[in-house]
Amino acid sequence: MRRLIEHDAIEKRVTELGAELSEQYRGRELTVVGVLTGCMLFMADLVRAIDVPHRIGVVHASSYRGRSTRPGELSLDTKLLPDIRGRDVLIVDDIFDTGNTLSHLVDALQAAGPGSIRTAVLLTKEGRAEVDLRPDISGFSIPDVFVVGYGLDYNDDYRHLPFIGVLDDSEL
Ligand code: IMP
Ligand code: MG
Repeated sequence: MRRLIEHDAIEKRVTELGAELSEQYRGRELTVVGVLTGCMLFMADLVRAIDVPHRIGVVHASSYRGRSTRPGELSLDTKLLPDIRGRDVLIVDDIFDTGNTLSHLVDALQAAGPGSIRTAVLLTKEGRAEVDLRPDISGFSIPDVFVVGYGLDYNDDYRHLPFIGVLDDSEL
């Protein structure tokens, strides 16, 4: 596996994003909503880098990739979402690829009456967007390659890796 972003670089960037978000949400009623399962590592580090009080919630999204590296049908589950009425919501996902997941989630969460909604991702894949939305906060821009690690999976493997890697064609 080729390493694209080392853990040290992720740590440093997440600290910067946390400081930026702390300024933006100081004095606000923030709820950070993670998109399972890919958000887990990024979210855990990001919330510890945000030094203003906030709540944490999760939703589940899946684009049924399985052994494919291209998106399929999107399914969203907001059953675990806490009450966000009137609150400032920051949706946290691992990667912005076509943008369909985040775009649908913003629409779905809008229905719950939040005060505001913004989005944060660790990675943005260049040149892939199929929607008008762009993430408000993004850690790194990456080329159009299939990445794993730090929450991102291929067929449910590799999520635990502390770095971002690119799988060889022989591994896909
Ligand atoms: P989008 O809806 O096309 O933006 O895709 C977002 C979701 O697809 C992410 O939350 C990931 O779960 C998954 N995804 C997109 N690109 C990759 C990748 O390179 N590796 C692993 N998962 C990916
Ligand atoms: Mg995901």
